[in-house]
Amino acid sequence: MSTNRFTLPSFAKINLFLRIKGKRTDGFHELCTVFQTVSLKDNLTFSEHSELILTCDTERIPLDDRNLIIKAANLLKGKYEVKTGAKIHLVKNIPSPGGLGGGSSNAAVALLGLIKLWNIEIDFANLVKLGKLLGSDVPFFFYGGTAIGTGRGTEIFTREEISEKNILIVTPGVNVSTAAAFGCVNVRHLTNNSSKRILQICRHEAGSTLLQQSLLKNDFEEIVFKLEPEIERVKKSLLLNGAKTALMSGSGASVFGIFENEKHLQTAFNNLKSERDWRVFPVQTVSRPNYFESLKHFDSLLRTDC
Ligand code: C5P
Repeated sequence: MSTNRFTLPSFAKINLFLRIKGKRTDGFHELCTVFQTVSLKDNLTFSEHSELILTCDTERIPLDDRNLIIKAANLLKGKYEVKTGAKIHLVKNIPSPGGLGGGSSNAAVALLGLIKLWNIEIDFANLVKLGKLLGSDVPFFFYGGTAIGTGRGTEIFTREEISEKNILIVTPGVNVSTAAAFGCVNVRHLTNNSSKRILQICRHEAGSTLLQQSLLKNDFEEIVFKLEPEIERVKKSLLLNGAKTALMSGSGASVFGIFENEKHLQTAFNNLKSERDWRVFPVQTVSRPNYFESLKHFDSLLRTDC
């Protein structure tokens, strides 16, 4: 019988702003983005077990080392010489892939859960280092709320919180590979020095309290709408159905629309959910205090002066 069993939420993110500033010397792209956690979430339940076992309530998700949860567990096991395993059950609600950071969020929460289950002593800087090894979006999930991401997307700076109660996320049934989307980007090559300059400009641009809806921008839209016109149709439908603004998240395929009030959102929800291959999720932003509250086991590890 397992003595230690607990469940943690794993929230999705949207990108309120995403500019691709150039190609770095390491082959990755220099980004300037604003991440925002939203209330759509998966759940991960951890329990003690001699082997490492991942199960999931849906069939489409790989359960072997293609899954970032298994990658996170193996990384931690290797670094901290953990001799035991764990049973992890994933309840999947976040479309995957979908530009909502579901896999990255799962990886971040898997690290946290296993640190607790295996009694690992780690500080915040080393936790973020492990996150970076797993993927560019992972470190953000140790902050939550509204935050600026620069560099590969892994350098996180908190900024004034943005709060929106009436958001619809629509995920059409098409897949966009992030690597393929980056492969179509045509931007200048950067030197290490120009990367540093961009970082300063980005913090100013994305940190401005003037990040109003009219400024919401995602450089992937032009590229990805050409690859998958269905995604542009989603954006147009959100706007036609009353969204005051709509934007693709990450490299797609999800698009979010922000509505003036609950009534407008409800009308759009009723219209859009009848589309055969679209999944539609009413969500709201999750602020950093609420995000930390949901992960309160980890208060002393996550609360840094960021
Ligand atoms: O880090 P992550 O696994 O999310 O990246 C997936 C792929 O996206 C990378 O292999 C790379 O091709 C591309 N990428 C990039 N620049 C970034 C982030 C990702 O070119 N800042």
